[in-house]
Amino acid sequence: MDTSNLPIRQYAADILAAVEKNDVVVVIGETGSGKTTQLSQILLEAGYGDHGMIGVTQPRRVGAVTVARRVAEERKVELGGEVGYAVRFENRTCSSTKIKYLTDGTLLQECLEDTHLSKYQVVILDEAHERSLNTDILFGVIKKLLASQDGARQHRLKLLVTSATLDDEKFSAYFNDCPVFNVPGRCFPVDVIHSQDDHMQDYAAAAVDTALQIHMQQPPGDILIFLTGQAEIDKAVQRLNSEVCKLPADSAGELLVLPLYAALPPELQLRVFRPAQPGVRRCIVATNVAETSITVEGVVYVIDSGVMKLKSYNAASGMDSLEVTAISRVQAAQRAGRAGRTRPGKCFRLYTRRYFERQMPDTTPPEICRTSLAGAVLGLKALGLPGLDVLSFDFLDPPEQASLCEALRQLYVLDALDVDGGITPTGRAMAALPLEPALARALLEAHKLGCLEEVITVAAMLSAEHVFAAGQGPESRAAANALTNPAPPGSSAAAQAEAGRKLKQLAEECQGDHLLLLRLYQMWAAAGFTRDFVQAHGLELRGMNFARDIRKQLAAVANFGSSHLQQQRPVSASSSQGQQQQQQQQEGGSKRRRWDEDKGPPLPSPTAGSSLGGSLLRSEGSAGSRGLGLDGRPLSRNGRAVSSPETLEKVRRALTVGFANRIARRMRLHNGYRTCNQKGALAQVHPGSSQLSSDDDGLLPEWLIYHEFVATSRPFLRQVCPTRYQWVEPLLPKLQEVDVQRLSGGKLRAQAAAAAAAAAAAAAADAAAVAEAGQAA
Ligand code: CDP
Ligand code: MG
Repeated sequence: MDTSNLPIRQYAADILAAVEKNDVVVVIGETGSGKTTQLSQILLEAGYGDHGMIGVTQPRRVGAVTVARRVAEERKVELGGEVGYAVRFENRTCSSTKIKYLTDGTLLQECLEDTHLSKYQVVILDEAHERSLNTDILFGVIKKLLASQDGARQHRLKLLVTSATLDDEKFSAYFNDCPVFNVPGRCFPVDVIHSQDDHMQDYAAAAVDTALQIHMQQPPGDILIFLTGQAEIDKAVQRLNSEVCKLPADSAGELLVLPLYAALPPELQLRVFRPAQPGVRRCIVATNVAETSITVEGVVYVIDSGVMKLKSYNAASGMDSLEVTAISRVQAAQRAGRAGRTRPGKCFRLYTRRYFERQMPDTTPPEICRTSLAGAVLGLKALGLPGLDVLSFDFLDPPEQASLCEALRQLYVLDALDVDGGITPTGRAMAALPLEPALARALLEAHKLGCLEEVITVAAMLSAEHVFAAGQGPESRAAANALTNPAPPGSSAAAQAEAGRKLKQLAEECQGDHLLLLRLYQMWAAAGFTRDFVQAHGLELRGMNFARDIRKQLAAVANFGSSHLQQQRPVSASSSQGQQQQQQQQEGGSKRRRWDEDKGPPLPSPTAGSSLGGSLLRSEGSAGSRGLGLDGRPLSRNGRAVSSPETLEKVRRALTVGFANRIARRMRLHNGYRTCNQKGALAQVHPGSSQLSSDDDGLLPEWLIYHEFVATSRPFLRQVCPTRYQWVEPLLPKLQEVDVQRLSGGKLRAQAAAAAAAAAAAAAADAAAVAEAGQAA
C-alpha cells in the first residue's frame, strides 16, 4: 500500500510545524486526501504519541472501525495493538495503543472519567464538516479544556480539527483565530447531468434505471448510487441484481452490486474497498456515508438521488425522527466530486437544474440544531465544567433555546438535575451509562426494584433497532394478514406468515411492546440463541446478535453503575461539599478503570430481591444448556424463560420512571390519549404497536408510556406500554412548569453574583461605618 503520494503527505512538515507552535490547527482537504488515515500516522512518526495517545474521532461506528483496520494494515501491525479503536459497546485497544480511532460519543464519555483527557497527547476531531452533535459538544468542551490547561497537565494537549468543506473561517474564528491548512485534492473534472424531469418522488426506481443504462451504454468504471437507508438500499440491490439477469446476453458485462450503510457488518463493508475483477463493473449502493467519510476508489459514475435520511427533532413532540430530506448544494457538490477521483467522471442528478439552482438548500443545519439534547446536556452537566450555564454555553452554532429548555426539563423530571440545575447522584449514574437518558433512568430504577436483568434486556433490544426481519414485527402487514390470508404450506411466504402469526400471538400475551421485546429475547436465550428460533419468529439474526452483545456490555456496566450509585450521597453542585464529593466520584472513576483492566469489576454480594450484574454475567451463556431461565428461575413447561408476573410489573414500573416525560392518559370514554407533558398533545395508539387489552367497554388502559410520538397529520404513540396511576402519580408534579433558567445554572450564578455584590456592599458599608466610628472617636 503506497500512501506516500496522498496529498496530505506533501504538507506533513508544514502541518507538524504548525501543531508544534499552536494548540489548535484546522486542516481542510478534499475527501480522500488522507486526513483520516494519514494525519494520525504523520503525528506518530514525528514522535507524538509518546506522552499520551493520538485520538481520532469519527461521527460513526463504521468510520472508526474500518479506518482503524485500514491504518493497522498500512502500518503492518495487529489491530488492537499500536492502532486500535473504541466505539460504544466495543473497545479494541490496549496499554500500548498509540493511535486510537473512536466515535465522538465515546470520547465524550471518556471526558466524564478524565476531564483533562490526560490519556491523550493529541485529539483529532475528524469529519468536522459533518457537524455531528457530539463533535459540536466536543468543540466546546475541548476549547474550554485548552483555555485552562496551563499547569493542569504535564504535556500540552494538541487539537486538530479536520474538515472536507471550506468552513475554515468559521472554525478558525471559533478557535481564537487558529491557523488553517488547505490541502488541495486530486480531482478530475466531473460532467454533471441534471434530469429533465424531477424524479424525487420515485428516486429509488429512477436510480436503478439510470444505473442499468450506464451499465449498458457507458465505458468501464464503477457506479456509486446515493440512496437514503438500509431497507431502500437492500431493495435496490435486489432489483439491480434481478434486472441485470434479464439483460440480453452480451449486451453488457458483469455487474457486482454492493450495499454500503452504517448498519452493515464490518466484514461486508470492507468489500467495497476490494477492487473488482477485470471486466467486472461494480455498483455501490450507499447512504451518505459514501459522501465524505468513506472513499470508494474506482468510481466514475455517480447517481445522486438528491435526498438523504436526516435526524430531525420535533419540538412539539419532544422526539427525534429520521426523515427523508433534501440534501444541500454543498452535499450535491461532494457527491458529484466522488466521480472524479481516478479520472474524469459523470454525475447523474435525479433532479432538475432548476431545482438545484432555485430550491435546493445551501447547507444543512448541524445536528445540534435538529436533535433532542437531553443526553448532550446531561453530559455537559456531568462534566462539571466550572460556571456552566447551559443556555449560554459557547457552541459553534448555538441550538435553539427551546430545545435546551426541553432537555433541562426532561432531566429534571428524571431526577438527573436538582431544582438548581445541579447534577444529582442519579444524573451522574445515568451519564455513566451508554444509553439515552430515559433508558438509563429506567435501568437505575430497575436496579432499585429488583428487575435490572429484564430492563437491561429491554434496553438492549430497543438499542439494537433492527430486531425484526423486514416485513415482520407487530407492525407488519404480514403479521396481520397471516390469519386471514394463509399462504400455501411449505412456501417461504407460508413460513413468513407462520412467523407473523407466532409474533402476533406472543404480542397478544404480552402487555405492550416493551414486554414483547423482553419475551422474545428470553425465549431466544432459552432456545440457546439459535438461528432457527430467530427465523421462526420473524426476527433478524444480526439485530438479535447485536442486542445480545449490547446486553452483555450493559450488564457489565450496570453492575458497576449500581454499586457506584449506592456509594453516593446527595450532592449539591453549588456547595464546596459538592466539589469534594465530585472529586471522590472522580476517584471512583479511576477505580473503575482499574477494574476494567482487570477484566471486569468484582461481583457484588447478592442483594435481597435484586439480581445484580454478577448473575447477569453468569447467566449469559448458560441459560439454554442448563435448562434454567436467565435468573436461574425454572423454565416453563414449553421451554420459555418467563419472568414472573410480579417481575413484569416491576419492569413496567421501572420503565414508567424512565419515560416519565412520555406518559399519556386516555380520555374519558374514548380511546384517544393526551400526553401528560407540558404540551398536552392528543394522539392515538399507533396501529402497528402491540395490541393492548381493553376492558369490557372496549376501552384501552387509562395510562400508557410511549417510546415515540409520531407527529404526522394524525399523531400517534408508538411502542407503548400500559402503566398504572399509582406509579405515575408521584411523577406528575414534576411535569409541571419548572424554572429552566435555574436548571441551566444561569440563575444560580446570577444569584451568587448578586449575593456576592450584596456582601461586598455590606462589607463596604461596615468598613465605612467603622471608619466613621473611628473618625468620630
Ligand atoms: O479522510 P480523507 O477523506 O481525507 O481520506 P482517507 O479516508 O484518509 O483516505 C485516504 C485514501 O485511503 C483514499 O484513497 C481511500 O480510498 C483509502 N482508504 C482505503 O483504501 N481503505 C480504507 N478503509 C480507508 C481509506
Ligand atoms: Mg476522512
